[in-house]
Amino acid sequence: MHNYRNEVIEAIHGQCPDLDLDQIDQLIELPPSSDLGDFAFPCFSLAKTYRKNPAMIAQEMAEKIDNPLFDKVENKGPYLNFFINKEAFTKDIFQDLQEKEEDFGKTNYGDQRTIVLEYSSPNIAKPFHIGHIRTTVIGDSLKRISNFLGFKTIAVNHLGDYGTQFGMMIEAYLRWGDHDVIEKNPIPELVKLYVRINEEAKDQPELLDNARNWFVKLENQDPKAVELWEWFRKVSLEEFQRVYKLLDIEFDYYTGESFYSPMLKDTVDLMEEKGVLTDSQGARIVDFGDELPPAIIIKKDGSSIYLTRDMATALYRKKEFDFYKSIYVVGSQQSLHFQQLKAILKKMGYDWEEDMIHVAFGMVSLKEGTMSTRKGKVVYLEDVLNKAINKVDDILKEREESRGEKMEDREKLAREVGIGAVKFQELFNQRIKDYVFDWDQTLSFEGETGPYVQYTHARICSLLKKGEFSIQDPVDEKALGLPEEQELLMKLSRFTDIVIDAHEKHEPYFITRYITDLAKTFNKYYTHNQINTEDPKVKKARLLLSYGIKTVIAQGLNLLGIHAPEKM
Ligand code: ARG
Repeated sequence: MHNYRNEVIEAIHGQCPDLDLDQIDQLIELPPSSDLGDFAFPCFSLAKTYRKNPAMIAQEMAEKIDNPLFDKVENKGPYLNFFINKEAFTKDIFQDLQEKEEDFGKTNYGDQRTIVLEYSSPNIAKPFHIGHIRTTVIGDSLKRISNFLGFKTIAVNHLGDYGTQFGMMIEAYLRWGDHDVIEKNPIPELVKLYVRINEEAKDQPELLDNARNWFVKLENQDPKAVELWEWFRKVSLEEFQRVYKLLDIEFDYYTGESFYSPMLKDTVDLMEEKGVLTDSQGARIVDFGDELPPAIIIKKDGSSIYLTRDMATALYRKKEFDFYKSIYVVGSQQSLHFQQLKAILKKMGYDWEEDMIHVAFGMVSLKEGTMSTRKGKVVYLEDVLNKAINKVDDILKEREESRGEKMEDREKLAREVGIGAVKFQELFNQRIKDYVFDWDQTLSFEGETGPYVQYTHARICSLLKKGEFSIQDPVDEKALGLPEEQELLMKLSRFTDIVIDAHEKHEPYFITRYITDLAKTFNKYYTHNQINTEDPKVKKARLLLSYGIKTVIAQGLNLLGIHAPEKM
């Protein structure tokens, strides 16, 4: 398929070589109505260079540009308007759909370069709570987007499974813990122990000394310490994996912080060698001068910290995967941490720190009364997901009753729609924005929601079935003359660019918004126009257009990690 936007850019560049392709791309506008063409280019910024008024520049360019893909190029005042040749354009998209079918829009933009994506990364022996949903869902979507664009991805769950708190856990367990009680309900019980030891340590400081000792033992591979730690890790991971299964999210590696502990010594030695460490009251730190606050690498007692482990992690990932990009999907509270991490690598002379990207996001909060909590203030993600599924199931049951007809696989559908609805809400806004989770908004079948987009998809599936659509049926591109049809085709043609943009800016919400708009535009068109009409030519062309919309909605949902059921 021709890339019409690029054609416009090239044409303009041909006339004004002073502007580079990127600058032109930035300036191009999409006209508000079709009588102003399909692309517009404002000539204001050229006035200075060419010492002419913008309208005159636009007029001269309009006369000179000659490209058969455009019916006409004309100027309206200082604007240069491009009108696509509709038949050629329709034919282009039709051909592409018939050639690529479900793969419409796929490219090899990534050229198999490697992207390491780290996301989710909960802490063991701690709740997997609602706050973790964003990193989990955004990371998974970025992975899908990268794969779609032809990148190779490595998905890593950087579990928080190391650190002095595990000395606390061991001490608490040995004092008050009960094996069977924990096995039955691991995380809430482990959390209880952790809360208790922190409480009691206020009056009994020796608990802290013991805990520190246990952590030192753990670092030195003491069998008892290792055994307990492994057990905490195992029972925690089992809980996490239940949630990942519900979410349908996978990782290539569960290499948590502990994985890097054998590499800490070499990491610190390397930092010493490169001369980035200085002494501060017995601790080894990196001093950034005025640039950033100093960062501790080795504490006074000789133990490592979170940042030390991230240093080892970064070095390992570069060596092991030789990444093109390494992405950390972590809340914006940790911005300083990642700034320091990158700054240290830079000080050490590694320019690849520029390829490490902290993809930050804002906080989720729950609307009052949204969830009752199991215990304490924590809302477990698993409970939220199950509640979403149950709520959708209730809606579907009502439908069954009102239709007097049982659904084929209601439970599966409830899962796909319930989980999809939650993911969709998570991915609907710019990631850096804080947002409030609200059931009514999430689960509504109307408006800008997951169920609405899924429902549009299912509706088109049944339309195609009814019309006995067959993808390779010959179609006549002249049969799509309505402006609404051209608008839909134009939107379809932008799919790949939207995905690339989502990738470059690490913003899955570009895709969420795009498919929502596509669904809305289609529904409006469909309300006023019959797809399966009498005229076989028109019918075939409209079916193929509908197929295109359906395919892009399904692919878009897939890039967000959401299923696209064919029946709803
Ligand atoms: N476990 C951490 C937390 O829950 C997130 C880990 C982020 N990743 C990293 N490489 N530091 O806050």
